[in-house]
Amino acid sequence: MKTLLRNCWYVALPSQKLKPGKMVHKKMLGEPVLVGRRKDGEVFAMRDICPHRGIPLQYGWMDGDDVCCRYHGWQFSTNDGRCSLIPSLTEYDDLDISRIRVPTYPCREVQGNIWVYFAEDTKKEIDLATIPPVPTIPDFGKIEPGISEIIHFNCHMDHAIIGLMDPAHGPYIHSSWWWRSGRRKFTVKEKLYEPVPQGFRLVPYDMPVSARPYKILGNKVSIEIVFELPSVRTEILRGDRYSACLLTTITPIDETQCEAFQSMYWTIPWMGAFKPLLSFLTRKFLYQDRDVVIQQQEGLMYDPALMLIDDADTQAKWYFRLKQEYQKAQAENRPFKNPVEPRILRWRS
Ligand code: FES
Repeated sequence: MKTLLRNCWYVALPSQKLKPGKMVHKKMLGEPVLVGRRKDGEVFAMRDICPHRGIPLQYGWMDGDDVCCRYHGWQFSTNDGRCSLIPSLTEYDDLDISRIRVPTYPCREVQGNIWVYFAEDTKKEIDLATIPPVPTIPDFGKIEPGISEIIHFNCHMDHAIIGLMDPAHGPYIHSSWWWRSGRRKFTVKEKLYEPVPQGFRLVPYDMPVSARPYKILGNKVSIEIVFELPSVRTEILRGDRYSACLLTTITPIDETQCEAFQSMYWTIPWMGAFKPLLSFLTRKFLYQDRDVVIQQQEGLMYDPALMLIDDADTQAKWYFRLKQEYQKAQAENRPFKNPVEPRILRWRS
């Protein structure tokens, strides 16, 4: 089950990290990817290897809509990756340079993140009409995140994902003097889950009136948590005054490491003043998750048998079942059939 899912969108980086005319190298799903933004603001992604002699294109520069290789100056269109210029050619050469191509990836910018689509074979040209839409938070329109964080996880993405949806680690990992301050007061949680097209969700319910921090959003606040393959988790709080959302996605760098992207959105007009504090708290939480994963790796290197229990680990079990069905459906060239059934989960945390 350690396979990395393909035919999916993954976040490459937050929009704010890529200025016009700039290019960034990313390793995603084990492939070298050059993600760039043209002067007109459009984003693009292409394989970060020059087809001439293999130097990564990240060392070159952009010239209009083209990327130029620093070794011999060959130019490639950011629209389709085709070679548009080989400076060393003379009128005596009859090489058809448009047949030389750098593979490109579908690339989109949605709600403040740049997403790259990984087809089964990224070296082949794909029909854009056949690929799924980019994951988008419903009801938030073209909103930009108030804060965006990236954190590197030194583990296979599966461990990062099941850590994300694990409801039992909170009291142990996410305790600080300002949060849960060492008190491990457990209560029984009982939550209804149901399937969504490529995953499952916590059916929205109203937060208890005692949940004070949420009162910022209004007197009546509901929460919904959705997870969809390959690795997209949205936690949406809808109040009768304002709404907020935390989007977390995991992108595999390769089989042994991944990146977590977290974006926080809100419709509260004065919340901008609290960005530094929110950013600090978000990083603190993510670092707590990362630190335990680093410790976990010390045990995983011995390849121990692992276990998942009911009900606290049921979401992790669903993740592996969804992933297995996704791969089978693609191998058998048939529609995906969600294996998750509606169910109440109970755990103490
Ligand atoms: S290696 Fe890129 S142009 Fe020669």
